[in-house]
Amino acid sequence: MGLNLDYKAELDNIIRDHIDMEGPLLPVLHAVMARFSHIPKDAIPIIARKLNLSSAEVSGVVSFYHDFKKEKVGRHKVQICRSEACQAMGSRELEVHAKKSLKVDFGESTNDDLIFLEPVYCLGNCACSPSVRIDDEIHARVTPSGFDKLISDLRSVNHHKARNS
Ligand code: FES
Repeated sequence: MGLNLDYKAELDNIIRDHIDMEGPLLPVLHAVMARFSHIPKDAIPIIARKLNLSSAEVSGVVSFYHDFKKEKVGRHKVQICRSEACQAMGSRELEVHAKKSLKVDFGESTNDDLIFLEPVYCLGNCACSPSVRIDDEIHARVTPSGFDKLISDLRSVNHHKARNS
């Protein structure tokens, strides 16, 4: 499926905003992720052409970095730490609770496309386990009820933003 016009115009703008940077590919891909929640397949040859790269080179970078998703993911990334210190403090139970309450498995997004749940292996916050990162913010000593509160706060912030936009 081809990109629609608005989509393509936005992609062109993103590329134009970064093209003069040294090594523009990663910044372009991060900006595309931030805007579209994934790297659309159709965007790869466009990015490649404009940055004077081959599609294979761009695809290789997209596949190499875990942060770049090929399918659309929820707007907010919620990561639960599965490393040792967090496991010792109950992250397995937290993981089971999170999957049940969000009705998703790791690597999936909620039905409202708001949350993408994934595992992470140490957030450098071991002393305050179990740790959860929501987008760029790390939360310490997260209990199942604490997790629900974080998610409900996230939903209500998004709800307010949507109402005021
Ligand atoms: S083990 Fe979870 S933050 Fe380090």
